[in-house]
Amino acid sequence: MTTAAQEAEFIPVDLQLRDGRRVSLRAVRPQDKEALQAAIKRLSPESRYARFMSPLRELTPKMLERAANPDPDYELQLVAVCGGGPQETIVGGGRYCGSAGSTECEFALAVADAWQGLGLARRLLESLMRAARARGMERMEGYILASNSRMLGLAKRLGFAEAASPEGPSVRLVRRDLRGVG
Ligand SMILES: CC(C)(COP(=O)(O)OP(=O)(O)OC[C@H]1O[C@@H](n2cnc3c(N)ncnc32)[C@H](O)[C@@H]1OP(=O)(O)O)[C@@H](O)C(=O)NCCC(=O)NCCS
Repeated sequence: MTTAAQEAEFIPVDLQLRDGRRVSLRAVRPQDKEALQAAIKRLSPESRYARFMSPLRELTPKMLERAANPDPDYELQLVAVCGGGPQETIVGGGRYCGSAGSTECEFALAVADAWQGLGLARRLLESLMRAARARGMERMEGYILASNSRMLGLAKRLGFAEAASPEGPSVRLVRRDLRGVG
């Protein structure tokens, strides 16, 4: 399957956020590399740390290549964009990734600081859960800083159970069975 086929599978959706702003949610495209890097660089240091759990300032070329070209068999990268044409800007993103032969995958999300608190993360995670289930994934998990109460609360409301993580007490592991996801 190609990235184009993957995109065809995830039908782009237009969303209205809590304050009326609009975004489109779509699968990433290989030509989004520059916009992805710009979106990561625009995150506040706190948001970047919460997403990557390291003081990384930008994606390495390898991370960027993988983010823009997910393996359609077991990965999906969604982006939330506003504006159109050359003005298009990535204001949020979420991905899941699994591995060959496994029905388990891991999610991660980030929303631009100026777009937080509007319900975008909830829409991203719900979309990832549905897409993962539609592709045969049975379990989804995520590693979240123990201090990230917003993300932990959201995961809990979407049916994830929280547990200790092998990373130690500063990181929590959330897990959800996807088999009930419609
Ligand atoms: C965590 C993060 C993804 C949440 O994104 P968001 O778009 O702001 O989240 P939402 O608006 O969907 O809100 C999620 C929950 O947080 C709570 N929340 C949102 N904004 C809030 C605010 N300003 N104050 C208090 N609680 C708030 C809400 O209870 C909401 O739950 P609900 O949808 O059930 O009401 C975002 O803050 C972020 O990108 N942080 C940095 C990266 C990160 O932490 N990633 C998670 C690691 S995988």
